[in-house]
Amino acid sequence: MCGIVGYIGKQDATPIIIDGLGRLEYRGYDSAGVAVIKDSQIHLRRDVGKLSNLRQKVALDPISGSIGIGHTRWATHGVPAERNAHPHVSMDGEFVVVHNGIVENYLELKDELISEGIEFKSDTDTEVIVQLIERFAHNGARGNLTEATRKAVQFLRGAHAIVVMNREKPDELVAVRIGNAGGVAIGLGEDENYIASDIPAILEHTRRMIFLESRQIATITASSVHIQTLDGQPISHEVHDIPYDPVSAAKGEFKHFMQKEIFEQARSLTDTIRGRIDFEQGEAILPDLNLTRERARALDRMVTVACGTSYYSGLVGKFFIEHMARLNVEVDYGSEYRYRDPIIDEHTAVLAITQSGETVDTLAAMEEAREKQATLWSIVNAVGSQAMRVSDGYITMNAGPEIGVASTKAFTASIVDQYLLALHLGGLRGTLTTEQQRQYAHDLGLLPDLVGRALETEPQIKELAALLHHYTDFLYLGRGINYPIALEGALKLKEISYIHAEGYPAGEMKHGPIALIDEQMPVLCIALKDSLYEKMVSQIEQAKARGGIVIAIATEGDTFIASKADHVLYVPDTPHLLSPVVAVIPLQLLAYHVALRRGADVDQPRNLAKSVTVE
Ligand code: AGP
Repeated sequence: MCGIVGYIGKQDATPIIIDGLGRLEYRGYDSAGVAVIKDSQIHLRRDVGKLSNLRQKVALDPISGSIGIGHTRWATHGVPAERNAHPHVSMDGEFVVVHNGIVENYLELKDELISEGIEFKSDTDTEVIVQLIERFAHNGARGNLTEATRKAVQFLRGAHAIVVMNREKPDELVAVRIGNAGGVAIGLGEDENYIASDIPAILEHTRRMIFLESRQIATITASSVHIQTLDGQPISHEVHDIPYDPVSAAKGEFKHFMQKEIFEQARSLTDTIRGRIDFEQGEAILPDLNLTRERARALDRMVTVACGTSYYSGLVGKFFIEHMARLNVEVDYGSEYRYRDPIIDEHTAVLAITQSGETVDTLAAMEEAREKQATLWSIVNAVGSQAMRVSDGYITMNAGPEIGVASTKAFTASIVDQYLLALHLGGLRGTLTTEQQRQYAHDLGLLPDLVGRALETEPQIKELAALLHHYTDFLYLGRGINYPIALEGALKLKEISYIHAEGYPAGEMKHGPIALIDEQMPVLCIALKDSLYEKMVSQIEQAKARGGIVIAIATEGDTFIASKADHVLYVPDTPHLLSPVVAVIPLQLLAYHVALRRGADVDQPRNLAKSVTVE
């Protein structure tokens, strides 16, 4: 998705903005630009492609100023081209804007503005915003950038994050947030202030941040921040102290963020668990959930809404919560939920799982739940994100910044968060004995070490990737609590190696898909030593009988499986409910190494973005 960075203060804005955009590269983009104001003139540099192209353009033809805005664009309206890159300047050259989101009614607005004599230079929807601002500035709001902007955005339909400057008022930036088109964070410095669509962009400069809520507008100078609602009511705002350490976002000794984040999981899961388990009492400690015993006992169902990898995490969590808390759990896609008029009432809890906390489909599902009086929870990694702020209660993943577009450590952290939630609900609802609680808590304490041992299979997986990377179709099979891991393993391979891969419930193969299996198809089978082991062995035999290349994910010490499968990747014996967290590790590593073999851009796969803030 698009990235926004702004600055106003005593330093040169240009390098701050371009470096900030560099920290948002993982969000996916196809062009970039920066604008500064100097001597009452707007100076603009834009280019298509990677940020390095913009850096080179600025190096050859420098611009500097103490106020500026920048943007990385992921094309929605208008092809990736210099003329369509942000920032966009108004016709008279007085105003300049960057924008995340989609102006759903831009065609009618553009026609109206053209009929008033406005000349457009781009194919984008964004340009109508800057032309509208200029129109209102010339009609009654001259010299008042906030007022002109406030009036202009009333005409926009859709979700937006907008930052605008006026060359006549080089001492202020104005920022607007409407809906969930990505965040607007305002970073507070000493006689300087920052704006960003995502925290990492400005974290090295300040940890003190204000987050705009939907339908709010901010007037930012080097020494002040004033926020009001779009209908002009001044409002107070909370200053968050963000705990992220920017250093940990560096790659360290790893080649890619994704590899680093896969290997971080033993530590990040320790962070996820830390302080949240009383091992003596077997109790989960989740104060941010704001859940009372009465409320927990009044619930009669829970719905989990999420997208992509987070949806697969929800499928795993369903097993925990139904088993421990005896609460019926339905899991639905964030992009589907709001279109089926879901049955929700005051006895329903809706849990949103979202690493970024900004996925527009998941946020929309949360709004649906809120409107229907559900208790709204979220599991998020991005502190201060929209999903977290609109929830009645939340559980943070504490996985640290996840930069690789393909989610790994956030996935396992969100599974552990649901395990904690299930334990917490079970305790409050009285569906677990103290002994059971202690056992589940003990099992969780083993997990980081078990994950660390699973990571030791990397050398074997690198060799396996060398054998498999040229195949074009893969099948991933699992049963029970590990069926979602088959889905996640397939998604990991798809999204970073661009190989077609399908996750499937193993028991469903005989109802059609088994026709796909031949000598050209690797078949990943999750066959851990659990109650479904024999059925998975039978599945492996069926796949082998059709020539499939079978790779089994098996439990250490299971020598029998080696007589059935072509390749075996062993993981340590793990308590059943937590086995998905360990089983996914070799699948993450396999996807990573196959993608490397294929020369794919592992951290920024084509067509993908880390946070999908458009529908
Ligand atoms: C995961 O590898 C993908 N990048 C994608 O499916 C992601 O999980 C999905 O877009 C949801 O993102 P969220 O967790 O930030 O809401």
